[in-house]
Amino acid sequence: MSTRTRALGGALAVVVGIGLIGLPGASAAPGGVPGPRFTAGAEGAGDAYFPFAGNGGYDVQHYDLDITYTPPDPAPAPLEGEFEGVATITMVATQDLDRFNFDLRGLDVSALTVNGRPARAVEPPAAGVEVDGAAYWHVQDDDARVWELTVQPRPKIMKGQTVTVVVWYGGTTTRPRDIEGFLYGWVTTRDGAMVVGEPEGTMTWYPVSDHPTDKATYSFEITVPEAKVAVANGLPARDPVTAGGWTTWYWDAPDLQASYLTTASVGDYELRFSETDDGLPIIDAVDDALTPGNRAITDGSLPLQPEMIAVFEAAFGPYPFNSYGSIVDDDSVGYALETQTRPVYSLRAVESTVAHELAHQWLGNAVSPGRWQDIWLNEGWATYAEWIWSEESGGASAQAFFEDVMSIPDDDGFWEVVIADPGPTGLFVDPVYDRGGATLHALRVKIGETAFFAGAREWVSRFNDGTATTEDLEAVYEEASGQDLGEFFDVWLRTPSKPTSW
Ligand code: TRP
Ligand code: ZN
Repeated sequence: MSTRTRALGGALAVVVGIGLIGLPGASAAPGGVPGPRFTAGAEGAGDAYFPFAGNGGYDVQHYDLDITYTPPDPAPAPLEGEFEGVATITMVATQDLDRFNFDLRGLDVSALTVNGRPARAVEPPAAGVEVDGAAYWHVQDDDARVWELTVQPRPKIMKGQTVTVVVWYGGTTTRPRDIEGFLYGWVTTRDGAMVVGEPEGTMTWYPVSDHPTDKATYSFEITVPEAKVAVANGLPARDPVTAGGWTTWYWDAPDLQASYLTTASVGDYELRFSETDDGLPIIDAVDDALTPGNRAITDGSLPLQPEMIAVFEAAFGPYPFNSYGSIVDDDSVGYALETQTRPVYSLRAVESTVAHELAHQWLGNAVSPGRWQDIWLNEGWATYAEWIWSEESGGASAQAFFEDVMSIPDDDGFWEVVIADPGPTGLFVDPVYDRGGATLHALRVKIGETAFFAGAREWVSRFNDGTATTEDLEAVYEEASGQDLGEFFDVWLRTPSKPTSW
């Protein structure tokens, strides 16, 4: 909140400060003080870790992304691509809107319409300065990590109204980094791009309300030089079309999806189509340039996906989306990401990681974190699912993995992380994964097999297509077990020392 006031207080103050008294839209605010009826949508979704991620005042229904992308020239040319996009965003206003924002980082807007009416580009207005008519402006402050595209629609938007915003935008793509310094977002590679947006890197490639609390459906039209392959979420909407040296790839992702799970990776991929015994389509995209060793590892793991789906369906309920498959790139962002229906892997797909990213489809994707501080709900569950897969496929037992974690000495810094609130630069530290997994194993042992897996399925079905918090998980498990688990969760999730009794 304080960062927000400091960096963009000007724009907000204009709207809140002058109160629009006397205009037909003015109405009484609670407490009897006259307030404006049409106000600015919030510049963030209210997440304490990333105050400017996401936006308020509307709910996106659908993103239609039309992208033309040219990968870098061969080395030694810089690792930069050329990107041109047209984003058509369909959304519903959740308040009377004088202004609203999208998140957009590193690319520039060239034109924008709201319900077909053009808005004009203006400089960000200083505090107290009104802007006339339909307009938009873009603040990009890399040091403050503030990237906000503000739209002032005219006429103003009424609560409940469906709004279509079209944004023409583009620029040069690079290799963006998250708050900790990890590569993320539209990561330009020599042969294309690896596109992995967690936690708020999706704003590096389209204007978006970049927070999991605003899920939407997606469609994609991605045009790349002929022979390049573009792979996004969901299923092909039609066959690719090649003309004049360019190929357009069409993808449709009709299941609600958090923005950080969007991908549209581009590369020299071989596409492999198959399906599970139940008829779930599997589409894998494997880079032509994997090393022989990495190709052997990948070719050993990906064929296990149908069996893994069966194991996780037994544990967590029906697979939640319309398709699955993996994108394996020869470049590396240093990690894999569970992009919805189609995870992205760096260099190779190792079996335990394949199990991990698959499990995220239920745990992280169908049910997403309501706040980034709840990241352990993603990573603890996906780690525990790796242990379950190991156990079910003849490897080490979950109990053995648990004991491994518990063999970490009491005075190790590992135990100092509060995993229910690891901080914005601690989202992906080991304890979030391993103590998270150990928490779930300890819970299974405490409440028993039946209650544990009934609770897991209840968790996924109750919050499917939405988000949930640590408190929601506690409530589900108190119901499933009939036990008071307050102390258990405090010891495991909120105490910066090694659990000894629970
Ligand atoms: N969510 C990813 C996974 O575990 C990991 C991830 C995203 C990550 N960003 C990261 C890991 C940065 C390390 C660093 O499947
Ligand atoms: Zn994970």
